Amino acid sequence: SLDVHDIAGAPVIIGSGIAGMMTALRLAPEPVVLLSNAQLGTGSCSELAQGGLAASLGRDDGPELHVGDTLAAGDGLCEETTVRRTVRAAPEAIKTLERFGVAFDRRADGALRLGLEAAHSQRRIVHAAGDATGRELVSALIAAVRRTPSITILENVEARRLIVEGGSIVAVVAAGHTGAVALPTRRAVLATGGIGGLFCYSTNPPGSWGHGLALAAWAGAELADLEFVQFHPTALDGPRRPMPLVSEAVRGEGAVLIDERGERFLAETPGGELAPRDVVARAVWRQLAAGRRVFLDARQCLGPRFGERFPAIADLCRKAGVDPATDPIPVRPAAHYHMGGVAVDATGRSSVEGLWACGEVARTGLHGANRLASNSLTELVVTASWVAESVAGASLTRRRHICSTFVPPRPDPSAIRAVVSAALGIIRHGETMHEAVTTLLPSAAHDSAGSGPALVALMIAIAALRREESRGAHCRSDFPSRDADARSSRLTLSSALQAA
Ligand code: SIN
Repeated sequence: SLDVHDIAGAPVIIGSGIAGMMTALRLAPEPVVLLSNAQLGTGSCSELAQGGLAASLGRDDGPELHVGDTLAAGDGLCEETTVRRTVRAAPEAIKTLERFGVAFDRRADGALRLGLEAAHSQRRIVHAAGDATGRELVSALIAAVRRTPSITILENVEARRLIVEGGSIVAVVAAGHTGAVALPTRRAVLATGGIGGLFCYSTNPPGSWGHGLALAAWAGAELADLEFVQFHPTALDGPRRPMPLVSEAVRGEGAVLIDERGERFLAETPGGELAPRDVVARAVWRQLAAGRRVFLDARQCLGPRFGERFPAIADLCRKAGVDPATDPIPVRPAAHYHMGGVAVDATGRSSVEGLWACGEVARTGLHGANRLASNSLTELVVTASWVAESVAGASLTRRRHICSTFVPPRPDPSAIRAVVSAALGIIRHGETMHEAVTTLLPSAAHDSAGSGPALVALMIAIAALRREESRGAHCRSDFPSRDADARSSRLTLSSALQAA
């Protein structure tokens, strides 16, 4: 079994993508345990990130413009204070990453190269290796984490349960190949990423099924805005899973969306191909629903330069038999990002004492009903520092040894993907969502059967049913208009099960 003698009491970070690694690095030299359910650097969404980090660094840019774009994309549900605070800290986050060894793309004069993505009024996307920003960040941070002696990395070890006593975290139950153990700790940080793996079409790896949300819900934490799931409009249409992304930055360079007759269908939409992501995803979905295939056409704007600017995407396309310099790229929307998550305060604290959340699993209030492109990497780098400060400052008194024999089995989301995709996709309807609740409830409520994915899907469906309006990424054909008084939504495990 795992030898946890030396690390008892240290904060436990659950998840080893960029959010988890950044939090661990920001906590150094305080000893910390970093749980990685695979080998470090594999299986997380972070390494798949293409676009980059949004930061107002351009000559004509400024935090106010970035704030304005974020609020507009968020469609009335962003928390303005969070937006201002995060956006102001973004330029410094870029410097922090450079100190950890990340090499961002620069022009010949040394200035950072800034890309453009949908709904940004300025070029402000800082990227690395052209379109492999996530991969570059992950490899730099792995090197930094491995050379930091205060970080104990437990690879191929997964958190299965948080133990709560008297409303506070007292241990994390973790399981590896050789057995399970309860790691005594008063401080746990969820950095487990999103939920795309619950859907048939997704850019997320299958392990991104909302693991952290299930852990938080079982621990009694409050979750917020779960109904808001972002679909990326342009995943490369083909059999590969997770679906490769064709970054919005390609549209930022002028690529256009066309149907199979070669006609643009967004030319009349305000913002065109660079309208907010929810708008573009719905437009693509409508074409597909009408039986037409959709393509991203970069022949005019980039042509033979495509591979130079977007080497990783060019490679993914070629592997699918498409040469983006000469062929339109077949695309379709895919589940990509979860705006909802564990409800946290400005320091990443959840409603359960001793439990923090960082990155996609957290709902900070930055994204509202629809995240602005490339604000997610920015958010997790910025908030990792705030979380680390708060974790370091939290009082820690008790050390106890706890034994637990209860280890839920490793869950598998594949059985529920069809139900989730039908009910919680780009266009939703109350009837289908009610049916999904009925289907999901028996396994969601069955505590010992790897019920996490069903529970997370059930909670999203309940949140989506409760929101009787269309806003941002949540679009209901039975409630097509916007509710003037709408606010952020909250749910706990008990309120969800009661509602079901
Ligand atoms: C993209 O590169 O299009 C994705 C960026 C993001 O999801 O923020």
